[in-house]
Amino acid sequence: MPVVTLAHDRDFAGWRNAARSLALKGVAPADVEWRIGLPASEARPPGDAIFHVPRAFIDLARSAIQSDDPERFSLLYALLVRVRDEPGLVEAGKDPLVARLRAIADAPAGNKSETGALFGAMANPRARIGGNAQAAWEAVRADAMSCTRCHLYQCGTQTVFGEGPVDAPLMFVGEQPGDQEDLAGRPFVGPAGQLWNRAMGDAGIDRSQAYVTNAVKHFKFERRGKRRIHQKPEAPEIQACHYWLDQEQAILKPVITVALGATAARSLFGRVVTISATRGKAHVMESGGEAWVTVHPSFLLRVRDDREAEYARFVEDLVRVKKRLKELT
Ligand code: URA
Repeated sequence: MPVVTLAHDRDFAGWRNAARSLALKGVAPADVEWRIGLPASEARPPGDAIFHVPRAFIDLARSAIQSDDPERFSLLYALLVRVRDEPGLVEAGKDPLVARLRAIADAPAGNKSETGALFGAMANPRARIGGNAQAAWEAVRADAMSCTRCHLYQCGTQTVFGEGPVDAPLMFVGEQPGDQEDLAGRPFVGPAGQLWNRAMGDAGIDRSQAYVTNAVKHFKFERRGKRRIHQKPEAPEIQACHYWLDQEQAILKPVITVALGATAARSLFGRVVTISATRGKAHVMESGGEAWVTVHPSFLLRVRDDREAEYARFVEDLVRVKKRLKELT
């Protein structure tokens, strides 16, 4: 009988990894034993395994896992196996298993942490953010520190996770940590980060009030002598790391997410987009929030012609975002 041992009793990421892997192998729900205590390392899915489930299922699973019901992991796995063949099952809402899981998810406070309320399906993406978002974020960040979802964990010094207030209405997404970020373990602290800080100041946005992260959370580089030269992340790396961005989005539910550059935009939109076609306008995301696209600050460091004009355009984009955020909040 496969035994899945989750890292802690609210370990949604561990459950999701394990459940996906078991479902891909066709393991029957009755054959799985769910335990809590150690990392779920054996059940990690292959990095490129694709397994789509409806958003409604993910929302229900996130919420139900926050309860104390001892059967929640196995019930969710049983539902996951069925949802693969019946994608509308959760939304139809009539199935007894769905009803039972909804009751678990909606159990009164005391029987579950506030974090559960964070993830329920909702019209206003921020309507149910609770005080325990911080705990949820810390759990996800802790999981990300030992991420092996793609080969890049062997490359950088450490996972560079996002930082900032978990109730920030504004999220910025960069490409990947650079040399200095990799060493410091913090996003946007190197030259591109300094230029971005300046532009944020010029636009009147307080960086400390925004959440800042990257599409890829390990530094990808090529060694040349003593130097570590940045290499652009490729599609499989962006896709593997989207798992973490997705969780950051689910916890923060930002009103506006700003993609800094094409890699960030690709991760957010799930497809290749050009800056020229997407820049300077709102794109409504599945979550209900808006995505805005602008250039990456390192572009401004590289550009030779009209650097000042490009910088001014970048600041204008940030001002537009600030204005839009004011309208929405
Ligand atoms: N460039 C990025 O995209 N992110 C960082 O954190 C630093 C540089």
